[in-house]
Amino acid sequence: MTGGHLVSFVGAGPGDPELITQKGLRRLREAEVVLHDRLIPRALLDETAPGALVLDVGKAPGRPCLGQGRINRLLVDWARRRGRVVRLKGGDPAVFGRLGEEIQAVREAGLPFEVVPGVTAATAAAARAGISLTERGSASTLVLATGTDHTGHRPVALDWEFLARVEGTLVFYMPVGSLDAITASLTALGRDPREPALLIERAGTEGERVTAGRLGDIAGAARAAGCTPPAVLVTGPTVASASVPHGVPPRLAGVGA
Ligand SMILES: C[S@@+](CC[C@H](N)C(=O)[O-])C[C@H]1O[C@@H](n2cnc3c(N)ncnc32)[C@H](O)[C@@H]1O
Repeated sequence: MTGGHLVSFVGAGPGDPELITQKGLRRLREAEVVLHDRLIPRALLDETAPGALVLDVGKAPGRPCLGQGRINRLLVDWARRRGRVVRLKGGDPAVFGRLGEEIQAVREAGLPFEVVPGVTAATAAAARAGISLTERGSASTLVLATGTDHTGHRPVALDWEFLARVEGTLVFYMPVGSLDAITASLTALGRDPREPALLIERAGTEGERVTAGRLGDIAGAARAAGCTPPAVLVTGPTVASASVPHGVPPRLAGVGA
């Protein structure tokens, strides 16, 4: 595609700069303006063209962040002024990325857009742990859920009874501050506390760490290990076959036994 206005929502992947798609990388190299999240592989910014305007619109601890409305307005303003704008988002733009709100702003402004998908944290984490997220016969459902709502706590709006009884794999994004509440809700409603569970921090980056345990004790294990975001909690029968890339932590030895 050449010329004209186009807003490309591009998935940057979960941290390893090689996990962006070829199409996403091409859009990044062609961009006149790039608005990026904080949680993107920084090496990707080296791929932008000389003279491209690169704006960090991400949220960072201790730094005033732009509200979503302001990001939407910036996106529309730049897209009107320059032809090729890339909105670079961590992981996949369509997974817990407020993509819908940004698409709505661009659509209302009458601007053409596309979504270039990316590797989401759930699949990146599963890949690093060497597990399948689904398995014929034992994990026929995969749920991606948020572990934190807009209040910063365990989301009350989730159907916890469904999550407790679903046969398959649950992946919680943004779980670190709510691990006790998430795991207690699931086990109180009947999910097996012996089910294997992993807390995977910074999957695919140098700071990657995997804490293994069971649904009933993973919150305590993560606390003892000092786990911090970004991380995902993965629980379900297939987690039993996890192998941890940088050596098997002691807790994993008992998983699935
Ligand atoms: C606002 S959500 C964005 C998710 C992103 N759109 C995606 O598809 O992965 C941010 C959360 O994604 C998860 N996350 C992102 N990158 C991660 C990584 N490299 N390892 C583990 N979790 C990650 C964490 O739960 C983090 O708090």
